[in-house]
Amino acid sequence: MASRPRRPPLRPPARRPAAMIAAAAPAFLLSACGGSQSALHPAGTAARDIFEITLVLFIGGALIFVGVMAIAAYAVLARPERFRGGIGWILGGGVAFPVVVLFALQVYEFAMTRRIVAAGTPVDLTIEVTGVMWWWDVRYPDAGRGLDGVDGNRELRTANEIVVPAGRRVEFVLTTRDVIHSFWMPTLAGKLDMIPGHVNRLTLVADTPGVYRGQCAEFCGAQHALMAFDVIVLEPDAFDAWVRHRLQPPAEPRDELAARGRDAFLEAGCGACHAVRGTPATGTLGPDLTHVGSRLTLGAGVFPNSVGALAGWIASARHLKPENRMPSFDVLDGVTLRAIAAYLAELK
Ligand code: CUA
Repeated sequence: MASRPRRPPLRPPARRPAAMIAAAAPAFLLSACGGSQSALHPAGTAARDIFEITLVLFIGGALIFVGVMAIAAYAVLARPERFRGGIGWILGGGVAFPVVVLFALQVYEFAMTRRIVAAGTPVDLTIEVTGVMWWWDVRYPDAGRGLDGVDGNRELRTANEIVVPAGRRVEFVLTTRDVIHSFWMPTLAGKLDMIPGHVNRLTLVADTPGVYRGQCAEFCGAQHALMAFDVIVLEPDAFDAWVRHRLQPPAEPRDELAARGRDAFLEAGCGACHAVRGTPATGTLGPDLTHVGSRLTLGAGVFPNSVGALAGWIASARHLKPENRMPSFDVLDGVTLRAIAAYLAELK
């Protein structure tokens, strides 16, 4: 009988774990910095300015740190007779250098802040975002202005999804309906608090079309971590087409199941909290559902949007996101639940 091949002996662990950890640490740390919610991949003017400030401060601080450590090492290790001019070092390095560097940085930061705030620059579009525990109410009070064929209603309302035109200056008007939230789209701008009874304004120009992610950045209760939103930056023409489409009420249900779903949606009282434009549902306590079927995610950025996720959310919202205001409609039978989900998924 042939003997089994012998395994090579296990190698001893690497000799220099500290060196390996030091080499791997930057890669590990930076691996968390990619993707659609990274301030290190700016896609708008304000975020780009903030990224530049970050680089200047980090690299400048690192160079000064290395320089100070080198001088300190020299002072400790060199023979005393080689280290002269003590008072000169103290006045030069301890007084003159910090004064010059900090003054220059202050001037630089004032200039950058003015550029980011851009006070007085005319804006092309206003978007009002209101933080609510734990979702985002999004209104475009005058989205249809200047668009051909749009007269009458020019106001758009949506939730948990913000669509922004690239290359146009957008002003976000931020407030809250309950506690303090913080509005943060890391790829586009810095964070700004939403404060009860107060309005904060944030302007920016998004310059790179794409899908990004925003997140509440101020602890606001049990589901703070599940208070996210999608940010979609479109080319200007695509944005105008989006506005035109969104100003229309959604189409009538296409099939029997969806029609049954619409009737059940209205009978179950969903319209007390939610609005679907063009129907008797006009509630404003919860997210506007007029085009909910076209959103990328549900539950404020928590689940990918699908018929199944819609049904699951309706049946177990309290289980999926405890303490949120939407009750779990676990009294609905399976067919009704599927019908409502089919109706909502068609609202595009
Ligand atoms: Cu809203 Cu944290």
